[in-house]
Amino acid sequence: MIAIEQQRVSEIAEDVFAGLSGQPKSLPAKLFYDAAGSDLFEQITQLPEYYLTRAETEILARRAGDICHRAGLGLTVVELGAGTAQKTRLLLQALSKRQLIVPYVPVDVCEPALREAADALERDYPAVRVRPQVSDFSDLGFLRHTRAPRLVLYIGSSIGNFDPPDALALMRRLRAELSEGDHLLLGTDLVKDRSVLVPAYDDAAGVTARFNKNVLARINRELGGQFDLDQFEHVARWNPEASRMEMYLRSRCDQAVRIAQLEMTVTFAAGELLHTENSHKYTVPGVRRMLSESGYALTHTWTDAREWYGVSLAKVV
Ligand code: AVI
Repeated sequence: MIAIEQQRVSEIAEDVFAGLSGQPKSLPAKLFYDAAGSDLFEQITQLPEYYLTRAETEILARRAGDICHRAGLGLTVVELGAGTAQKTRLLLQALSKRQLIVPYVPVDVCEPALREAADALERDYPAVRVRPQVSDFSDLGFLRHTRAPRLVLYIGSSIGNFDPPDALALMRRLRAELSEGDHLLLGTDLVKDRSVLVPAYDDAAGVTARFNKNVLARINRELGGQFDLDQFEHVARWNPEASRMEMYLRSRCDQAVRIAQLEMTVTFAAGELLHTENSHKYTVPGVRRMLSESGYALTHTWTDAREWYGVSLAKVV
């Protein structure tokens, strides 16, 4: 346990050192998700402006039966980045009506969340057999030990936080561990007007701003940083050329920030931007292209009533 903790701290240290030494400065979005950041993200999913979670839930609630029917019989469900698996319940419930036993393999880096979700699911759905897998996606080899045919869920628009070449590479690595006839269910946020997108990442209550600044608070907590959070401003921008929302922290003044454990002092000019996240927005043809370039054939995309969000089922070919 101590070894793992040490490894994690040194990984974070390397990421922070590299990101703050670069020009322009950046930090990887995965740093958002410590306990405080995960809690803030849960709050984001409830915000009136953050439509993504509600839109995806609407689609799954209406289409779970159809999705399961198209994916076939005798499925093993694998979920990448399962977290608390709330939306997955809609699919597991539909599958419980079609299968006596529903093997479910939730995959996440956070072991306590997995264990909690597993206990609750087995209690609520007697047909579901949960076999949690603690893993990030750097090694998908565990998939070889799951039984085909599989329905792999990658929902929540998580793919959007990868730049397109990395998203394609992840889809290909996943494909390499799957067999023909398996299915992938992919959730993607869709391109829409900036008047909807920008508030979703810059809400009136300031929760997303707190989520963004938590990355600095985390560096303070874990690496002995001395960031003054009030000296940074949350910025959310729509980049139409790259089809993505971008989040930054803008320095309000010239400042030098010491990070004790990295033995570094980072200087920021007034107005300088620190890049913290990209959130890519797709079109249905764009999803189709990415999937066909990585070894899948799109079966169908369902959208919510406003066509703001897409859930795509694709067959491994
Ligand atoms: C986790 N991910 C899909 C969220 C998104 O919409 O890109 C993270 C997030 N960032 C700001 N708000 C939510």
